[in-house]
Amino acid sequence: MKTTFYGHATVGLEIGGKSLLFDPYITPNPLAKHIDINSLKPDYILISHGHGDHVADLEAIQKNSGAKVICIAEIAGWLGNKGISNAHGMNIGGGFNFDFGHVKMVYALHSSSMPDGSYGGTPAGFVITAKDKKIYYAGDTALTYDMKLLADEDIDWAILPIGDNYTMGVDDAIKATDFINCKNIIGIHYDTFPAIKIDKEAVREKFIKAGINIQLPEIGESIDI
Ligand code: NI
Ligand code: MN
Repeated sequence: MKTTFYGHATVGLEIGGKSLLFDPYITPNPLAKHIDINSLKPDYILISHGHGDHVADLEAIQKNSGAKVICIAEIAGWLGNKGISNAHGMNIGGGFNFDFGHVKMVYALHSSSMPDGSYGGTPAGFVITAKDKKIYYAGDTALTYDMKLLADEDIDWAILPIGDNYTMGVDDAIKATDFINCKNIIGIHYDTFPAIKIDKEAVREKFIKAGINIQLPEIGESIDI
């Protein structure tokens, strides 16, 4: 299985023979200037919540690729109003079998509204289960006791925000690895804005000292997981 980091919270995942893209925010991100969104042709786009730094390139990439959008019901409705009907609305706690595997929408402790101010429903995370791998994409979230519900899920890799200020920071992300019982972590949601700049090497060391296999890929870098 391959994952590619496109900056901020934007992650590509090759899983179950399909290509998934989470929270596309590329063209407004100066750190991701070298990524051409026209080269992205995902089969599915998963949206954790409605904030601009998670949906900026959603419409462009969806129109380019025809991807099915997996998101909370309110965002599916918002897309429908824009003429994008290829969306699969879900809600917290619900799961569905897609052709690449099973997606369960799980709780994220954050806020959500669309860039135009419309209601974005509840923010969410996703647990993706395909053949032999289980991935948790946390979305924007604080550390929350609800993460303990994932402890017996046998998650192989968790994609967690670590940038602090808008989401949990490193110390809480380390606690989250205990809550979800997974020590293979890809860190996201850092460096994009002044408030979430991190010292990457210090952060890496902190995770390693806590016994965590931390991956902080460069923007555009793919890793096999
Ligand atoms: Ni957000
Ligand atoms: Mn965000």
